[in-house]
Amino acid sequence: MSTVIERHGLTAGTEYKGFTVSVSEQSNGRILDLTFSKETVEKFLAAIEEWPIQALEYKSFLRFRVAKVLDDLCGNKLQAFLVDTLTDRQTGALLIKPEGLDDVSQAEDMVRFCTAVAHLMGRSNFDAMSGQFYARFAVVNVDKSDSYLRQPHRVMELHNDGTYVEEDTDFNLMLKVDEQNMEGGNSLLLHLDDWEDLETFSTHPLAYRPIRWAVPPSKNISKDIYHPVFDLDVDGKPITSYIDQFAQPANLEEGVWLSELGESFESSKGTQSVRVPVGSFLLINNHFWLHGRDKFTPHPELRRELMRQRGYFTHKKTLRKPRQ
Ligand SMILES: [Fe+2]
Repeated sequence: MSTVIERHGLTAGTEYKGFTVSVSEQSNGRILDLTFSKETVEKFLAAIEEWPIQALEYKSFLRFRVAKVLDDLCGNKLQAFLVDTLTDRQTGALLIKPEGLDDVSQAEDMVRFCTAVAHLMGRSNFDAMSGQFYARFAVVNVDKSDSYLRQPHRVMELHNDGTYVEEDTDFNLMLKVDEQNMEGGNSLLLHLDDWEDLETFSTHPLAYRPIRWAVPPSKNISKDIYHPVFDLDVDGKPITSYIDQFAQPANLEEGVWLSELGESFESSKGTQSVRVPVGSFLLINNHFWLHGRDKFTPHPELRRELMRQRGYFTHKKTLRKPRQ
């Protein structure tokens, strides 16, 4: 079977019109590295100079405009490659590096670049935590928040994003904006087809029973959502919408099953540990990839800043039906 790289007439490791793709050495073959040359990044930033991040926040159509600028700079080969990679069940994940964007002082340029990439295949959802189409947040040594998102000294368990919102969350983009005094903290990724217990859990009677999902106050969402953990994609393959912290089981049967499901994810040998350098970002299909974060070594000056954009595909649908 040909790979998504071959199907697009690209050669792994060879630069094509400003970008290079290859299979990531940090993965078991499912994650692709996509690197944009410094020249491409500089030309992109020069071309969109008149639209600072605030312009992209205020006028959503400009997010698509900057996406087109980037695709044009890449010989109009980028968009189709991104769409196909993100919707390809064999792959569905990219580690993207825009060369020359590697310092926190360039944070807004990083967000603008990510916005262009995201809007070549979809549109970012409103993020209630920030009130914007993206959210930046920091992890420091001491944390007083109400979820594990910002707590540094423990593993953040594997999960899907968007479990507690009504919109589809087809993709998840995670950018490393800054990192100071960091040891550990790799991104953890598990593809459902690499999970040993997929068959066992996806055929269980509770797999398709609606579960209630509710979140703590910092998420700024007060409405409960009901959906099952499992669903099927357009090809009939299982996908998940699961997060340990926000599942609200109705009874002992659901509680024990969800707990066993979480334990199974956490003990999977299929989990891949990925180091994301400052300025780079992961872009994953949120339906068949789970993500989490390894713990950090405590340090009084520890600081890490991330930016996330979650959204839905506008070019190709992979879900059997939209979430009700
Ligand atoms: Fe997440």
